[in-house]
Amino acid sequence: MTHILLEKKGSVAIATINRPKALNALNSEVLNDLNTLVDEVKADPGIRVLILTGSGEKAFVAGADIGEMSTLTKAEGEAFGKKGNDVFRKLETLPIPVIAAVNGYALGGGCELSMACGIRICAETAVFGQPETGLGITPGFGGTQRLARLIGPGMAKQLIYSARNIKADEALRIGLVNAVYSAEELLPAAEKLAETIAKNAPITVRACKKAINEGLELPMDEAVVLEEKLFGGCFETEDQKEGMGAFLEKRKHEPYRNC
Ligand code: CAA
Repeated sequence: MTHILLEKKGSVAIATINRPKALNALNSEVLNDLNTLVDEVKADPGIRVLILTGSGEKAFVAGADIGEMSTLTKAEGEAFGKKGNDVFRKLETLPIPVIAAVNGYALGGGCELSMACGIRICAETAVFGQPETGLGITPGFGGTQRLARLIGPGMAKQLIYSARNIKADEALRIGLVNAVYSAEELLPAAEKLAETIAKNAPITVRACKKAINEGLELPMDEAVVLEEKLFGGCFETEDQKEGMGAFLEKRKHEPYRNC
């Protein structure tokens, strides 16, 4: 990967989008690297949580690359949208949890990338927005869909139609992020959260992610059946036996072994 740095700390992987000259903007190369990143993380059974952040102090990701998009035809524009959507969907459906540590501008494709991560926390310096209507396009990497699902259609429409950027405190108030930290505290906070998650039984964390993501797309009667199947699937695993056994024996459970 040319534009993504990948570091592993125990069972937590930290991926940093690294194209600082363009504020980490997503051109085709960065999208290809994101695709490779998801494949690599998925193939590594030792990784239990992925953190995604941006290099430098200014930006998480300042959007899709405007230079690359500026000369696209209608068909090429649609294909570019599909390229972004395919890789973001792949990230969203990665079996393990993904935390976006939003360290600055998260505009357009950057806001959309953060929304494809299941959990978002940000620095006080973060700025979110979908500026696309001001550029003569619609959000193209899932923004119209994920923003409306996350913060409700009324607020999503207001932000998208107006192309207004919002700061971290407003992002927290409308539920776009879960927590705000100082710039220095952001990555340590993301790592602490990731480590907390990584200590829990991995099979169950993955099942919870699947249940929430897929269940939200279903009518409630079908969603609870999905939950029942995933709940049932946890039984007879070594981690379930160890977790419940430790409780009943009034001892701390052994580290979960992912089996
Ligand atoms: N695409 C390409 N290059 C970008 C970029 C982007 N989205 N955002 C920033 N850059 C480049 C700038 O062109 C500049 O490059 P040069 O030094 O070669 O001129 C460099 O990054 C630094 O940017 P600025 O000088 O503009 O930095 P600033 O601090 O003055 O402003 C900013 C920062 C407010 C984020 C500003 O760069 C900006 O508004 N960027 C564009 C944000 C945007 O509109 N994003 C949405 C893109 S459309 C999209 O994402 C569609 C979709 O949904 C798929």
